[in-house]
This record gives sequence, structure tokens and C-alpha cells, in this order.
Amino acid sequence: MNHEEHAVIERFERGWLVFGVGMIVVFVVLIAYTMANFGGSIPVGTERVDATKVRTEGQFANPRLEQVGEEYVAYVQAFAFGYAPGEMRVKRGRKVTFYVTSPDVQHGFMIERTNINVQVIPGEVARVSHTFKEAGEYTIICNEYCGLGHAGMISKIVVEE
Ligand code: CUA
Repeated sequence: MNHEEHAVIERFERGWLVFGVGMIVVFVVLIAYTMANFGGSIPVGTERVDATKVRTEGQFANPRLEQVGEEYVAYVQAFAFGYAPGEMRVKRGRKVTFYVTSPDVQHGFMIERTNINVQVIPGEVARVSHTFKEAGEYTIICNEYCGLGHAGMISKIVVEE
């Protein structure tokens, strides 16, 4: 192999190396873009939980709305076919963080007039927050088909002055 042939091969290899690095950059940018654009609807900080123990162990065995300082935290079970706790009452202008999981099948947790709309997957904890700026009643609906009682799977949050 003469010197010129060698140089051609080197250039060829360098070309592939640049291509490979370029693809990695493209993937990283795509992932960052996806996270930035869907960050509002994809729950942040998703944790795992044993779906078979949701009803008996841990935070979700005691579904509740809790006031923590100036904010609220809710541990919500989305089950076939309803939500626990049922109706929740909060004060206007306070941040509410919802942790939602399912002990049975996949459900939805959507609160009308907010950007909260998450899938509730057994084994995972969806975390979403919202500050209700207007008083009133907000309906919570399951928008994931989950069985015969799906259409009646609703709840509400009441925001008081
Ligand atoms: Cu739960 Cu549809």
C-alpha cells in the first residue's frame, strides 16, 4: 500500500467517526427537545412502586390530601373505577402536588382547565403540580379506557377562596 492509498483510507475512517459523533449529538438534542416540550405532561421524578401493595403498604395505602406549610400534597389512588381520596378541597393560590398511582390497570388523571393530564401506570408514581389561581370546582377525569366503569371514573377538586 502506498502512502496515498493509506491517506484515502484514513480520510474514509475519519468520515465515519465524524458521522458517528454527529448521530450521538442528534440523539442528545432530540431527547433534550422532547423533555423540554413535553415536560409539562410527562410526570417529573417518576418513582416505582409495587402495584400489588398499593392498597396495603406505603403512602398510597392511606390516600389523602395533606397541607404541608403553604402547599398541599395529595397521595391519590386511581382505581377501577374511581379515585381515592374522593373530593379534595384546597385554598386558592396554593401549590398542590399530586402523586398518583394505580393498584390495578392503567388509568388517566386529567384535571379540567389545567395542563394536568397524565397516564397512571401500575407500578409507577406520576407526579404533577398545579397552582389553582381561580376558585371553583375542577372535574378530574380518567381519559384512559380502563373497563366497563371507565366513563363514570370521575372525581373533583374544589378550590376555595
Ligand atoms: Cu380509569 Cu378509565
